[in-house]
Amino acid sequence: MRKKPDKYIPALRYNWLTPIYDIIMKPMRESTFKNDLVNQSNIKKGDKVLDLGCGTATLTILLKKAYPDAEIRGLDGDEKILEIAKSKIEKKGLDIPLDQGMSFELPYKDNSFDIIVSSLMFHHLTLENKIPTFREIFRVLNDSGELYFIDFGNPHNALMYLISLIMRHWEETPDNIKGLLPQMFLNTGFNKLEEIKKYSIIFGTIYLYRVQK
Ligand SMILES: C[S@@+](CC[C@H](N)C(=O)[O-])C[C@H]1O[C@@H](n2cnc3c(N)ncnc32)[C@H](O)[C@@H]1O
Repeated sequence: MRKKPDKYIPALRYNWLTPIYDIIMKPMRESTFKNDLVNQSNIKKGDKVLDLGCGTATLTILLKKAYPDAEIRGLDGDEKILEIAKSKIEKKGLDIPLDQGMSFELPYKDNSFDIIVSSLMFHHLTLENKIPTFREIFRVLNDSGELYFIDFGNPHNALMYLISLIMRHWEETPDNIKGLLPQMFLNTGFNKLEEIKKYSIIFGTIYLYRVQK
């Protein structure tokens, strides 16, 4: 089991809230933005796909159902949430391997994946861990590989701006809210980053991006 860094932020910030993560996520337009990501990712038969920071595996399961002929696996740093994910996967009768590991020290060889997806994980990483995580994604994606991710970004209207005044003190969101994530990816060596869609949720504006090597 990989050692967690000193500042590890679980799914709902506190470990004791992890069992209610799925209940909290439902009213957050979870189904809308996760299904959009699944449809956009255009995964092909035989593709190797990683759900990075898979949490309770809601997105991982949607991907496996939509693309049963792809090799889909999930990774998360938190063994407790992986237990919830495992039991959900078993109940659905699906075969999805799950790995415990850290995003900035991925337990995979170079060029291992065709597609990496990630939902709402990057705002859990300190700046110190963001850049190494982006480097690791670059390393384990193959040359024509793509990353699809959803996370907080700069507020796109007055209401979202007001919410962002509170949210910038939550978890590691300041870099996201300042809109710095896209440039950080490009600085890490990625060639192209495209905004696909944005959504208002009660915690602020979240963006769906496609990133290419
Ligand atoms: C807000 S949850 C999102 C879970 C899931 N992707 C979703 O959209 O429902 C963030 C997840 O990232 C995981 N996480 C946080 N830091 C991580 C790291 N450095 N490496 C791997 N997973 C991490 C947490 O354990 C948590 O499950």
